Amino acid sequence: MQVFQLISEVKTYLSLQKQQHKTIGFVPTMGALHQGHISLINESKKVCDITVCSIFVNPTQFNNANDLTRYPRTPEVDIQLLEQAGCDVLYMPDVKDVYPTTDTRQFNFGYLDTILEAEHRPGHYNGVGQVVSILLTGIEPNKAFFGSKDYQQVMIVKALVKQLKLPVEIISCPILREDDGLAMSSRNMLLTPEERKIAKLVPIMMEEARDIAKQIGVSAAKSYIHNEVVKVPIMKLDYYEVCDTETLEPLTALKPNQQAISLIAVFVGNIRLIDNWMID
Ligand code: PAF
Repeated sequence: MQVFQLISEVKTYLSLQKQQHKTIGFVPTMGALHQGHISLINESKKVCDITVCSIFVNPTQFNNANDLTRYPRTPEVDIQLLEQAGCDVLYMPDVKDVYPTTDTRQFNFGYLDTILEAEHRPGHYNGVGQVVSILLTGIEPNKAFFGSKDYQQVMIVKALVKQLKLPVEIISCPILREDDGLAMSSRNMLLTPEERKIAKLVPIMMEEARDIAKQIGVSAAKSYIHNEVVKVPIMKLDYYEVCDTETLEPLTALKPNQQAISLIAVFVGNIRLIDNWMID
């Protein structure tokens, strides 16, 4: 695997590959890699000739300085995992290479940037827009792969690519789960063993709430989640919503032929976890 710290080096390497008509797949990450990330690398390798991964903890998408400081960083293990997965190129820049000057751009993602994650983490998706646009413009991949654990992020990135007319296909990949159902996340490694035991309740609650939404209704599912979360002293609910899969408009009732998704953000101790379940 070629490891570069400068986008100029990545561009030089990739321009040779592009001259040979090789297709480029790109997996942007913030490191602390787990099998969820590796599944994105595998997807890229299936459909593209060259797979590029980036590891960059993007400061502009953190609305909380503490969250940025304690975000897990495991570069040596990440490199090993990527080597084993057969990733071709790793771009591991420092802040100056990504932001030679301060990025003052303000994107307008409309309604999508007012709800759920956007409401609870103001400015987060503007920062995601900044870094993803810089990475996509620098690497110019044919396809870019994102995990659907952050379902709203995938929608934002698709909106970004459309607004900026970037010639890249955004591919959303399924959530990978631990054996006990917890959605894989870099943040899981910050949980204490006690918190980790509690965290496995999240998918259990989500599955039960999905059944309640289908059988009784959306407000019963919401009440169930609120009641279950307050029972656990170290859990705190940020939001639980049932939304239309296409628009993310909150739903108060499930209608036939309407695809719905339930989305949650919940604190276990100080660690904020997100997850989502389709309601089919
Ligand atoms: O999902 C993430 O890990 C980040 O938001 C991303 C897409 C790498 C941008 O920093």
